Amino acid sequence: MDTEQARGESTLMNIATVSDLEGASGDLLILPVFEERVWGPGAAEIVQSLGDWLESYFDGLDFTGKVGQAAAVPGDDRFGRILFLGLGAEADADTLRKVAGIGGRAATRYARVVTTLAQVEIDGAGDAVVYGFLLGQYTFDKYLSKPKPAQTTDLVLVGDVGADDIERGRVVAAGVALARDLVNEPAAGKKPEVLASIAADMAAAAGIDTKVYDEVEIEAEGFGGLRAVSLGATNPPRMVVLDYQPEGATKSLALVGKGIVFDSGGLSIKPASGMETMKTDMSGAAAVFGAIKAIAELGIAVNVTAIAPLTENMTGGAAQRPGDIFTARNGKTVEVLNTDAEGRLVLADGLSLAVEAAPDLIVDVATLTGACMVALGKKVAGVFSYDDDAAAQVEAAAARGGEKVWRMPFEKEYRSKLDSPIADIKNIGDRYAGAITAALFLAEFTDERPWAHLDIAGPARAENDDGYITKGGTGFAVSTLVALAEDMAG
Ligand code: BES
Ligand code: MN
Ligand code: ZN
Repeated sequence: MDTEQARGESTLMNIATVSDLEGASGDLLILPVFEERVWGPGAAEIVQSLGDWLESYFDGLDFTGKVGQAAAVPGDDRFGRILFLGLGAEADADTLRKVAGIGGRAATRYARVVTTLAQVEIDGAGDAVVYGFLLGQYTFDKYLSKPKPAQTTDLVLVGDVGADDIERGRVVAAGVALARDLVNEPAAGKKPEVLASIAADMAAAAGIDTKVYDEVEIEAEGFGGLRAVSLGATNPPRMVVLDYQPEGATKSLALVGKGIVFDSGGLSIKPASGMETMKTDMSGAAAVFGAIKAIAELGIAVNVTAIAPLTENMTGGAAQRPGDIFTARNGKTVEVLNTDAEGRLVLADGLSLAVEAAPDLIVDVATLTGACMVALGKKVAGVFSYDDDAAAQVEAAAARGGEKVWRMPFEKEYRSKLDSPIADIKNIGDRYAGAITAALFLAEFTDERPWAHLDIAGPARAENDDGYITKGGTGFAVSTLVALAEDMAG
């Protein structure tokens, strides 16, 4: 994989605006419809010009304008085809993103697409429509002998849509698309050194400073958790640190992303079925890369550091053994009783490093536990913290970013589950509350600073296309992290 391929091609299309529908033309027109078939912006005129048959045709389809409903009809002299999309009773930004995603996916065969979706009266409608449309068109087809990229070259938004809105939608979508590309890439194509150089190239292009620690520096710098996990792998680990320091920034945010490019479980090996999707286990790293890229491109006035420990978790002859002990970057010793609880080991070093710069807020993002997925399912991420303000900041940012998160208890009484008789802490608890004990483990490395942990084991990957979500890597958390940086910039 190279940087050229990791660029979210769909996000490069031309996006223009026209003040009203009259005089516009294209291959496809997308029109919104509210519940009970209340015509959205521009739709009534078009429906009238199409003729009486349309209402009875929609009756027959039971197309009433429910969220996600879609009905296409042949066009007129100006549009090749007309697609009506249901927005439900009261659309919000989430619905608009989702419906624009459905529109984007339905529009892939049309070169010039015109829509009045951004005229729906919602703050940031243009942003939501651009974001959803671009991500709905996302494909990962580089390994197909017959790639089928989206044919859309022009998206025309009808209405008074601000350039900043369009820019934000495009830039955040490009950050998400980068994260999806990195997650969808097979592990063989994203060895730690390769992924580190893709991140470094991305950073250079976005005006972000980069430091990459190689395996020798990782050992010398005391990144003991990252080193321990990497011992079973032939491909050497990397610690990536990206630094965005804009002028005028007063606050600082550290983002730490779990970067296990493949999780076999190590010697505590996973069953074959559990390994099938474990190239996804670097989704946290992908999210912090996508987020810092978008934050820098938008010029948000916050200092942001993205830290990503990258390694495979493999079973080679030099692999760490259950019962082994290592010393983490912050000096704490860890007894590793299950090598499949590896994410927390590399995050221990990532968080320790983040703490050293004393940022105002630290957020880590990780596909950390199956237990979190059992608790919250595939669509909702867990938020964990001892700090109510930090958790609330992440919850607010996620709400604005259109991503579902739920605060989980940070139950300190469970800390004793991690007591080891021979080290400062062990890396697993018992069979209960596995997502919480994982968070309690991470908290040993945050020095009681403002911190929140996002467990994205469920939503990092989707089994099906759904709105702007595409099957495979989702790029979850990019949108939330960008919103968080904006909130901190004030
Ligand atoms: N990467 C996995 C968590 C995971 C599982 C993410 C399934 C997405 C889908 C993580 O490294 C892991 O293996 N966690 C173990 C921890 C256990 C050994 C304490 C788990 O959740 O089973
Ligand atoms: Mn694991
Ligand atoms: Zn893992």
